This record gives sequence, C-alpha cells and structure tokens, in this order.
Amino acid sequence: MPRRAIQQPPSDPNDGVRLKAEELREILSDLRRHLLWWEAQGARRIPRQAGVACGGSSPVHAPATTPEERPEENLHGRALEDVRRQLGECRRCKLAEGRKKLVFGVGNPDAEIVFVGEAPGAEEDRTGEPFVGAAGQLLDRMIAAMGFERGQVYICNVVKCRPPGNRDPEPGEIAACEPFLKAQIASISPKVIVGLGRFAVQCLLEDPSLALGSVRGKWKRYEGIDLMPTFHPANLLRNPAKKGAAWKDLKAVLARLGRQLP
Ligand code: URA
Repeated sequence: MPRRAIQQPPSDPNDGVRLKAEELREILSDLRRHLLWWEAQGARRIPRQAGVACGGSSPVHAPATTPEERPEENLHGRALEDVRRQLGECRRCKLAEGRKKLVFGVGNPDAEIVFVGEAPGAEEDRTGEPFVGAAGQLLDRMIAAMGFERGQVYICNVVKCRPPGNRDPEPGEIAACEPFLKAQIASISPKVIVGLGRFAVQCLLEDPSLALGSVRGKWKRYEGIDLMPTFHPANLLRNPAKKGAAWKDLKAVLARLGRQLP
C-alpha cells in the first residue's frame, strides 16, 4: 500500500477557511460579471459548458465534455507557443466553419505592449496574421510613431477567427476565445495593453454597454495590467480628425512605460 503524505495542520486553523471564503467571494463576483455580460449580449440561457457554445440561443457547436477536451481550463502560466498548441485547429465555435486561417497573434512574446483588436478581417483570414489590411497598415504607423517596430510589440484580437461579413462576434464566439486571450496576455505579461476600439474594450472590461467615449484615453485594468482604451485604426481611417486624440493616448502609454518620444 502506498503511504500517504502526512499534511501539516495550518498554524491558524481558520486560515484555510478564511482563504476559501475570500476565493469564493472572488469567484462569485467574477461569475456575476460574466452572467451580466451574457445577459447584456442578449443571451437568454447559459450553455452548460460556457466557453464552447456559440451565440445566445444557437446550438452548442462542439460540446466538450471531458477535461481532455477542455484543455483551456489549464492554460494559466503557459508559454505562448503552448497556448497556441492548445488552441490547435480550434472548432469550439461556428466561426471555424467559415474561416480560412485562424489568426492567433503575432509579435514579441516578451512585449511591453500588447495591442488587442476585435477580430480578423478578410486579409487577416487569408494570411493568418492580425492587422495586415488597411487598418493594420495604420496600426504599423502608430507603432512606428511610438518608436517600436511591429515585431517588438504583440498584436492580437479578442476573437481569433473571422466572423462572416465582418459582423460583430457573438457572445459564444467571444466566450470560446476568452480563455486563450487571457492566457496569451498572462503569458506575455506586458506592462500595458492597448484596447483598439469599442468592441475590444467592451470585451476586455466585460461591459457590453460601455461607450468607447466614456473610457477612451483613461487608464483601466485588465487582469491586473494597465489598459489604455483608444480608437480602432479602422475608425481612424474613417475619421482622421480623431487621430490627434489617439496619438495623445499612445503618448500616455509611452509615458507609463517611462519611454521618451522617438
Ligand atoms: N481589425 C481588427 O480588429 N483586427 C484585425 O486583425 C484586423 C482588423
């Protein structure tokens, strides 16, 4: 018979209980925020495996039932390439049906800045790389103006596959990608996240009713990391008058990094 390790009792017998109560409070508050998020997105029921279902009332696409089929539950603290491996040829939601290429993210795994956009567009879907179309070219210029090369920062999206016709990603699609976005950011552990546009910022702050105008240019936090919400480069292409405000946001990012203007 294998001998069982003898556990030392905690010095204060209430420590374990207190810790559990704190953890429980944190879990309940997370759960509450998630449920409010789903509700505000129009969901009327929560699938049993939230994170693998698509759309509020759409059928579950590829239900994962065993821990082996839900590797995303074990993503924390992984290297970026492990996170990519776990994502695999993802079929966790129906976006898999229409995509050409999954667009994971690109750049420096030790980047100081992570830029987070919404979802791949047509060019990104074709190439498998985020922000390579017209908006991506403007993002490259914004990054260069900050004194970085594209390869020095990290760029990714909330959703890793192109929604058909560039429609907004649905709640289940966002939920399916969320553990991977979280793991990507945790793995890189940047000093600053730049949220590009209303949609990305709403997702990062888990508030689907948030108006970008109410938070743009103001420091927020995502998983303990400084988050600067700013305009999406596609929006800046349509509204060049907003470029000055976006530049102000990027200068605030440089200041937070303790960097001088190039
Ligand atoms: N818009 C985004 O939000 N992401 C991309 O990758 C391209 C365009």
